[in-house]
Amino acid sequence: MPQTIDIAVIGAGAIGRTHIDTLARMPGFRLSAIVDPMPSGASLATSLGLPVFPNVATLIDSGVAQAAIVATPNETHLPVSEALLRAKIPVLLEKPVAESLTSALRLIAVAEETGIPLLVGHHRRHNPIIRKAHEAIRAGRIGDLVMATVTCSLAKPASYFEAAWRRAPGAGGPLLINLVHEIDLLRHFFGEISTVQAIASNGRRGFAVEDTAAVCLSFAGGGLATLCISDAATGPWAWDLSAGENMARFPAHPVTAHHYAGSRAGLSLPDLTLWEPEGEPDWTRKLHPTKLAIEAADPYEAQLAHFAALIREGGAPLVSARDATANLIVLDAIGKAAATGRAVSVDLSPLDGISGTVFNNGSGP
Ligand SMILES: NC(=O)c1ccc[n+]([C@@H]2O[C@H](COP(=O)([O-])OP(=O)(O)OC[C@H]3O[C@@H](n4cnc5c(N)ncnc54)[C@H](O)[C@@H]3O)[C@@H](O)[C@H]2O)c1
Repeated sequence: MPQTIDIAVIGAGAIGRTHIDTLARMPGFRLSAIVDPMPSGASLATSLGLPVFPNVATLIDSGVAQAAIVATPNETHLPVSEALLRAKIPVLLEKPVAESLTSALRLIAVAEETGIPLLVGHHRRHNPIIRKAHEAIRAGRIGDLVMATVTCSLAKPASYFEAAWRRAPGAGGPLLINLVHEIDLLRHFFGEISTVQAIASNGRRGFAVEDTAAVCLSFAGGGLATLCISDAATGPWAWDLSAGENMARFPAHPVTAHHYAGSRAGLSLPDLTLWEPEGEPDWTRKLHPTKLAIEAADPYEAQLAHFAALIREGGAPLVSARDATANLIVLDAIGKAAATGRAVSVDLSPLDGISGTVFNNGSGP
């Protein structure tokens, strides 16, 4: 593998453009092509002096890509990624891993069969805030999780919904588009989710998909969480609007969006404040805040650096297809709970026999 990896971006929409901007700052990569069937993709490629291809097959035939970022609508994730992996092209695939469990399981099988690196783009896991929080939680600094609350008020403009897939069941809606990130983080911090309950409403926008939902989770290891999400509610209390991880798209407000209360202490994010008692916990005594120190880094850059390491050296992806598929299973259970009004058990048995990470043998091109 040469020093610089020639990489193509498949899908030059909202997040594809974030990757294109990020690649311009990354020394280990050279953006070599864009794939997008729309005229907007072609004009972006022309403005950057890059070749543009209408589909992934013509990109593969051209031989100009040694790696690819797949940032296309969810239902295309499997066919596009499968074609790339079979052509021995490592893939950084945007979340959610696929539009359905069947497609996700098929993708896991293709990744295992080919041994080509497949990293799923739950980019927050590469954020130093998340790494530090994970370290503190796993070191027992909040004790056992008792309860967590997560808020996501994400008032999106009408133009956002011009792309039809964002209004379509199975692809759009804030549960699949946004809550999947929160589910990924909660599982990362506190382990597997055993049961979900949910209420969803499309009352604000009237689309076929929900615009607002309230979700309750219980974790297999103990502890409960509530999550409130809406793409029609105004307020800064959301990770996207407070963590400052994509300042080109979103302002960062000085508020918190995640609160974890444990048997020993509390932790809020993204401000990384640990709230500890002096001595035994007692609600009548003052808690002392400590801000956990980190060196800030752009998670999209960190994600690409990890992708480069996977391509060059092999090893396990930080977010494997298995991990991302477990998120999808939880989301599916939330959808069923909202539709039936009943508690739904999370059944991860389709992942039995699939190792914690989808391996790769470092045999990229
Ligand atoms: N990591 C994140 O935080 C994050 C943020 C936004 C979106 N996403 C994910 O990224 C994906 C894209 O979302 P978006 O908001 O950028 O969508 P978008 O609609 O803005 O862009 C999708 C682009 O893909 C192109 N496209 C469609 N089919 C294609 C194909 N077969 N081959 C090549 N190009 C194709 C479209 O023309 C469009 O330009 C979705 O899976 C979404 O869930 C992730």
